[in-house]
Amino acid sequence: MKLTLHVWRQKDRHDAGRMETYPADHVSPDMSFLEMLDEVNEGLIKQGKDPIAFDHDCREGICGSCAMMINGMPHGPERGTTACQLHMRKFNDGEHVYVEPWRARAFPVMRDLVTDRGAFDRIIQAGGFVSVNTGGAPDGNAIPVPKESQERAMDAAACIGCGACVAACKNASAMLFVAAKVSHLGNLPQGQAERRDRALAMVAQQDKEGFGHCTNQYECEAACPKEIGVKFIAQLNRDYIKGTLKLVNKREAGAGDGAG
Ligand code: SF4
Ligand code: FES
Repeated sequence: MKLTLHVWRQKDRHDAGRMETYPADHVSPDMSFLEMLDEVNEGLIKQGKDPIAFDHDCREGICGSCAMMINGMPHGPERGTTACQLHMRKFNDGEHVYVEPWRARAFPVMRDLVTDRGAFDRIIQAGGFVSVNTGGAPDGNAIPVPKESQERAMDAAACIGCGACVAACKNASAMLFVAAKVSHLGNLPQGQAERRDRALAMVAQQDKEGFGHCTNQYECEAACPKEIGVKFIAQLNRDYIKGTLKLVNKREAGAGDGAG
């Protein structure tokens, strides 16, 4: 197969960036999208040019590194698939393919297709953990977890933190990511103690990082390579409202004590 690639090239965070065109003449239909980029990069290096910078690690769809827009779609045209798992047989011989980084204020472009997604790490640091002291490692069956809860928790835990949900959203909202992280802990017994506070803290950090608000367009769900459902955003909203009410009640109780 032969393709024409139009790739976003940007030297660093401050460079304005531009699209550049490269031929990809030796593409096997069995290659992954990243292997195709490797091939193009080898050609660029031989010509003494800078290779296209892109993030990757596992190349198995589990680390969330391979963030890139392919033909205007996060991770490309195949549903439920990361860029590293996308095969070139999904494209047609002679096709023009456009490759760009995530576009979101909270994910600044560092170089070419590489964005800084540290904002996600800071959201996790704000509340995506369980801090109750559980003592030594308990027996696996000591805390029975209902099947429905464990399945829901596992579905949410499938989030790989890739950021495709943000890239797909016209508001660059991180709600699907935050909802997945809040819900994976919020569906397990160990996550109950901090459940409401976790939702408040992680949403506050999301706002602080400059992500936009959710306006229920469901683009995130359609783009998510792990097919995380927007039902988790509903769960996040419920936890957030309960957390807010808990705060209001606490403040009112405090005010009442003072008046008394
Ligand atoms: S919710 Fe889906 S799209 Fe968003 S970060 Fe997690 S895996 Fe990626
Ligand atoms: S490189 Fe790990 S998910 Fe694609």
